[in-house]
Amino acid sequence: MNVFVTRRIPEPGLDLLRKEVEVEINPEDSVLTKAEIIQGVKGKDGLLCLLTDPIDRDVISAEPRLKTIANYAVGYDNIDIEAATERGIPVSNTPGVLTDTTAEMAWALLFSVARRIVEADTYTRAGKFKGWGPLLMLGQDVSQKTLGVVGAGRIGTAFALKSKGFNMHVLYVDGRRNEILERKLGAKKVELPELLTTSDYISLHVPLTHSTHHLISEKELQMMKTTAVLINTSRGPVVDEQALVKALQEHWIFGAGLDVYEHEPEIHQDLRHRDNAVLQPHAASATVETRTKMAAMAAENLLAGLRGEIPPNCINPKVFDKKKRITT
Ligand code: GLV
Ligand code: GLV
Repeated sequence: MNVFVTRRIPEPGLDLLRKEVEVEINPEDSVLTKAEIIQGVKGKDGLLCLLTDPIDRDVISAEPRLKTIANYAVGYDNIDIEAATERGIPVSNTPGVLTDTTAEMAWALLFSVARRIVEADTYTRAGKFKGWGPLLMLGQDVSQKTLGVVGAGRIGTAFALKSKGFNMHVLYVDGRRNEILERKLGAKKVELPELLTTSDYISLHVPLTHSTHHLISEKELQMMKTTAVLINTSRGPVVDEQALVKALQEHWIFGAGLDVYEHEPEIHQDLRHRDNAVLQPHAASATVETRTKMAAMAAENLLAGLRGEIPPNCINPKVFDKKKRITT
């Protein structure tokens, strides 16, 4: 068996693969085009890909031998799951191992915006600090404030639980009740408009789907408090970036902390010039420990799929129901 890896991932994952299969890796540390991915999967049984790879119907049907796809990410909006399911290809992701790491980045962004850390660092380095000032770099408190968590899945829950030391009033929006948040934090499940109008800090933790595309757009930004801070570590298109730029320019809100962008890696020109935005290069899961765990997890998922087993983190396990029906 042989597999194609679209970009070098931490060695422990590659080592696991090499013990069982032939591994071909994109020799460059760069994002491949769709045509290059199609070329790469030719003659391969497995594909280990990244969130930056568009794995659409064309890629999925490019190689009849292709048995399984492992995404090196928890989000899988880059993959046409329906097309993979139709072809009986199990797809897997890397949930769990990056939950705390991503939640920590959301907090890092929250504090960076609230206390203007990046702006103040730039100011200080530029030699502008001439002494303590009563009105210098005034930010916003975090303790006792209202925290609005949009999407209370694994990451949203971990993010909210970390607010414990700051004694915050926690609101959340989710299709389901989250008993952990209600029990441990006294969190309240509300509808999005209530969360937007009453929260001081709003953090997005939803997957990107048709229903979450532009979930936060001009109307929603206008509902927020002028002192509100928006954090996005989910997926860029969940926020209408053009509307967010306007909200930041016209001070409808206090600021935004962003790890993801609507047209990644492109970033709205005006966003780059906003002091009230703190920008990260889609790096919320980027720690040595977490990326190493993700590599091992993706490799184990891929190997299981190649053996015809259900990958431990299979997104479309129903392909196995179909297989069972066909063989029995
Ligand atoms: C990162 O964005 C991921 O989905 O793992
Ligand atoms: C991500 O996988 C989440 O459930 O929040």
